[in-house]
Amino acid sequence: MKFFLDTADIAEIEEACSWGALSGVTTNPTLYSRVGGKLADFENHIARICEITDGPVSAETVSLQRDEIYAEGMKLAEIADNVVVKVPTMPEGLAATKMLRAQGVHVNMTLCFTVPQAILAARSGAAYVSPFVGRFDDITEDGISQLNDVVVALGNYDFGHDVEVIAASIRSAHHVTQAALMGADIATVPFGVLKQCVKHPLTDRGLESFLADWEKVKNS
Ligand code: E4P
Repeated sequence: MKFFLDTADIAEIEEACSWGALSGVTTNPTLYSRVGGKLADFENHIARICEITDGPVSAETVSLQRDEIYAEGMKLAEIADNVVVKVPTMPEGLAATKMLRAQGVHVNMTLCFTVPQAILAARSGAAYVSPFVGRFDDITEDGISQLNDVVVALGNYDFGHDVEVIAASIRSAHHVTQAALMGADIATVPFGVLKQCVKHPLTDRGLESFLADWEKVKNS
């Protein structure tokens, strides 16, 4: 499984990239607004992220009609070779995805919650499908089991092009474990969850005792 970082925060992306295990970045309008993003800076901001990582960087469209989504997507795709256009799962989004694919633009279909939505996204030409986990949990449904259904269902078919499942709306290292065990291609995680994934109390305790014992070696 690959790790993407789900953030628009440049410092977080730089730090995670320096760890050497990051394969891409996903952003959305909420994440951009959270870092105080301004409309006029949006393209430069995405360009900066695309310089930090050479992996896919998802930038989301906000239009609601196919022609506008398409035009917005084509503009975003011009920012850098590694831009992936993120399009919401809806009829106009499917139509725009088909048009974008015809131009060789990779689409990440987002706000995907169900198996039929995921299959339609893949059929319309999406290169990535992003089922959301945590938002199901937020409404006391089982997001991991919904994600598993999507992974299994998409694995049943050949869509004539590569389709990768991005486990999205990830809230914990436990979500990451479950996504990896079911074979999701990618998990896109907030920086806090990525940090959680590196840590374990036994690792901390083990390091502490190795260092204490090394002090004894040095003083012997
Ligand atoms: C997916 O790409 C989205 O940006 C993201 O995972 C949404 O997660 P949230 O439910 O934590 O907002």
